[in-house]
Amino acid sequence: MKELFPFIGFEEGKLKVEGVFVEEVARKVGTPVYIYSKRAIEEAFKEFNFTYLTAFAVKSNSNVSILRLLKDLGAGADTVSIGEIFRALTAGIEPKKIVFAGVGKREEEIEFALERGILMFNVESKGELLKIEEVAKKLNKRAPVAVRVNPEVDPKTHPYIATGLKNSKFGVDFESALELYKIAKESKYLEPIGIHFHIGSQIKELSAFKEASLKVRDFVKELRSERIEIELFDAGGGIGINYEPFKEPPSVRKLSEILKPIVKELGLKLILEPGRRIVGNAGVLITQVLYVKRNKEKTFYIVDAGMNDLARPSLYKAYHYIDGTTYKEKRVKATVVGPICESGDVFAEDRELPELKEGDYLAIFSTGAYGFSMASNYNSRPRPAEVLIDGDGYKVIRERETLASLIEREF
Ligand SMILES: Cc1ncc(COP(=O)(O)O)c(C=O)c1O
Repeated sequence: MKELFPFIGFEEGKLKVEGVFVEEVARKVGTPVYIYSKRAIEEAFKEFNFTYLTAFAVKSNSNVSILRLLKDLGAGADTVSIGEIFRALTAGIEPKKIVFAGVGKREEEIEFALERGILMFNVESKGELLKIEEVAKKLNKRAPVAVRVNPEVDPKTHPYIATGLKNSKFGVDFESALELYKIAKESKYLEPIGIHFHIGSQIKELSAFKEASLKVRDFVKELRSERIEIELFDAGGGIGINYEPFKEPPSVRKLSEILKPIVKELGLKLILEPGRRIVGNAGVLITQVLYVKRNKEKTFYIVDAGMNDLARPSLYKAYHYIDGTTYKEKRVKATVVGPICESGDVFAEDRELPELKEGDYLAIFSTGAYGFSMASNYNSRPRPAEVLIDGDGYKVIRERETLASLIEREF
């Protein structure tokens, strides 16, 4: 098989994920359908074996079967809501491997997490720290906390996914962080256990990690001078992938070479929270061409997936490589659009694509992260099925929603 992305490529002109032809899955399960490679996920996860804990960012792909697969490899979970904690626990991830971030944690979410005994709360404001203390007091527990600091570095990524800039809603500046650590140290109900930062997503310039880590290292030293001792150094997620085939993504090994000496110098344990890097390239979205529409200047492939199924192109103008599931030499310029009643429902504009007819399939690559997990029911469209390929076999890991599921909570 000629691989475009690990474990995904063409064999005899037909697109395969591991040992399974995607057209076979599309015919049996229907379209649109998200297809993931188990091996691709496993191999990507193993690259992070230099950490103390790899807490998979559940927001990138929240399917319980995917979480279970990662749990079996030793993963923890980076969560941002009670729902994500619930999913992680359902998948069998131990509470002591779960971290909980997010700027707007509700009281019931804090209580749920504290009762289950999660590893730590990544705290994003003073108000939140005091709320956690209040809940811990009520439950007569000590809440393990890390302050999410904002190292003010530019990760050179899309503004919507840059989170460590000066005016970001995420994290707190170092000065305020020191105040929060002092509060935590004095409190009977709080235990300062770690430090957290996450500077953005789809980061390709590893120098941003270095810059941020060095600033955080200096801050940890400052904490020490105040006799505040912590254990965990959580450097977040964010390492990017390549959305173009046949290209090398930024090196996880190089990231390890940046981070390892810093945590070693501090004598702390390293946590990372990768999401995209583990599942992004492992998924493809298969969609069927409903109509080929031509006007004077353009050819449109109108497909059965829409921006409700895959939001990234309309949300961030994100690029996804697209090709037919049957390889064709002859290429034409076409614009791939979904059926949603929005002009932004476009997956690719004037791309070189195979000449297709109604009923043919297209594959939208690198959709394993922030694909299904961002899907919605907009335009009252049932969300697609998800399938996990394992060698020569496959399993439906989420059934396609039905018309009944669209209205099941309505009166
Ligand atoms: C706190 C936190 N950790 C980890 C991640 C995962 O990022 P990525 O999927 O880019 O690795 C995110 C993503 O937004 C995040 O907000």
